[in-house]
Amino acid sequence: MVKLIDKKIAEIFEITMRNTYPESVLKPVEITVATNEKFGDFQTNFAMMNTKILGKSPRAIAEEVVKNLVENDIIEKLEIAGPGFINIFLKDKFLGEYVKKIIIEGADFSFLNRKGEVIIDYSSPNIAKRMHIGHLRSTIIGDSVKRIYNYLGYKTVADNHIGDWGTQFGKLIIGYRNWLNKDAYKLNPIEELERVYVEFSNRTEQEPELEEQARIELKKLQDGDIENNRLWKEFIDVSLNEYNKMYDRMDIKFDTYNGESFYNDIMPGVITELLERKIAVESDGAKVVMFSEEKKLNPCLVQKSDGAFLYATSDIATIKYRLGTYDVNKLIYLTDERQQDHFKQFFKITEKLGWEVEKQHIWFGIMRFADGVFSTRKGNVIRLEQLLDEGKTRAYAVVNEKNPTLSEEEKNMIAEIVGIGSIKYADLSQNRQSAIVFEWDKVLSFEGNTAPYLQYAYARIKSIIRKAEEKGKEIDLNHPIIFRNSEERTLAHQLLLFNNLVLKAAETCKPNLIADYLFELSKKFNSFYNSCPILNQEDNILHSRLLLASLTSETIKIGLSLLGIKTLERM
Ligand code: ARG
Repeated sequence: MVKLIDKKIAEIFEITMRNTYPESVLKPVEITVATNEKFGDFQTNFAMMNTKILGKSPRAIAEEVVKNLVENDIIEKLEIAGPGFINIFLKDKFLGEYVKKIIIEGADFSFLNRKGEVIIDYSSPNIAKRMHIGHLRSTIIGDSVKRIYNYLGYKTVADNHIGDWGTQFGKLIIGYRNWLNKDAYKLNPIEELERVYVEFSNRTEQEPELEEQARIELKKLQDGDIENNRLWKEFIDVSLNEYNKMYDRMDIKFDTYNGESFYNDIMPGVITELLERKIAVESDGAKVVMFSEEKKLNPCLVQKSDGAFLYATSDIATIKYRLGTYDVNKLIYLTDERQQDHFKQFFKITEKLGWEVEKQHIWFGIMRFADGVFSTRKGNVIRLEQLLDEGKTRAYAVVNEKNPTLSEEEKNMIAEIVGIGSIKYADLSQNRQSAIVFEWDKVLSFEGNTAPYLQYAYARIKSIIRKAEEKGKEIDLNHPIIFRNSEERTLAHQLLLFNNLVLKAAETCKPNLIADYLFELSKKFNSFYNSCPILNQEDNILHSRLLLASLTSETIKIGLSLLGIKTLERM
């Protein structure tokens, strides 16, 4: 395992600083990537950071440090810039060796606090409705966050907190008993459940008494009525069956599917605790938690006057369960922006309870098509399956045009990977907090910041490597990487930064940083390849360039896999 490059460089400065100023306790050295190639490979502003402590001007400190720099094989030269920045230029030999080492051996992330498990709560659809485009972002971003944490060496628990408890079940039971079309249910159970649910809503206008009947069935379910519980379980099975088909297709896996109902038995105890500790108060028979003025949070209802619990109650109970079951490192939740207040409220309540655990609500903007928001009510909802199918169909057309001689089987396989990859990438490549406008032509483009562009870049490198092998030129990991053109060095420098980027993506929960990085990497590879031919070169150069190409393909592959996107050896 190899140290991250910034840590490796910082060490040299730390030693130098200690030698130069043995008496002082200094701020740690931070190394950042140079903003411009003119300023070297990396920069540091520690001279400015330590002016107060040392009582000297930043330039004077920088000059002393540059003069006293400990001997090393890493730094070629230093330049002092502006008020006291230090520009760092790495030795070519070091850069060539280090980039190889860190990609082949992997980066050392042992400085992270990786104790226990990171629980990631994502996807979490509500039972008895097919998944639609609104479920896409939580599912895809959550899966990517999990992959990123795993890459950094964390243990993760992917929990699908399905909405399997709530008022919809009374309605579903009424609908199922009265209007179910048995044949349709056999053929496509979840579609039929959806239909009877809509039927319920449509009928209530004429027959308002249906609402009361649904409430009675719900109460029976909650009180343990055997027949209603059987139906409820059936609805869950039918739904999960359907969801798992979608998850399989998207290569998304969960460790647990503990839905809201899983926490039912814990909720009464939570209410007792909240009341005893005077965190919740009674108000007209209901139990409510109030927050102080400056929190700017609305009161949070935790139990209705009829005894029913609420969404917040189940989330508080969920935290209690997780703390009791796992050695929780942190809790990460992914939902859309509309749930921000809900998370602020119940996070605050668990803090009042003194349950100490790091929690992050990762929210994201809503995805829309250019012609408006999709919602079930408006009847223009796009089901997830339709979306995936459409992606595949469109990708098939592109593949068919570019590569008509491939077999049908191959075309279909490529189309599925490219189609789903582009849908995922369209989501993950955007700042998650912005609303996404989804446009097929942009998403499936082979140009610009898209999955097909990166998948194609990967396949192209693989084809170069195959051609070299055909000529008897196997990749030789022991061969040094040498820089003759600036494009080679620029590419190596970009490759060196990959692991830092992944770390930053985890810290900010922003997979789009990885997407941006990969796009930049592919562009740098293209300029490298345009000016540095690989095949037909003398052996020394051929091997060095072949290595750079293969490190690039490896990095694209790992990077895309962190976004849950597959690569293809040929396209
Ligand atoms: N089922 C909820 C919904 O569809 C999302 C649940 C998110 N997770 C949680 N622990 N609250 O809106």
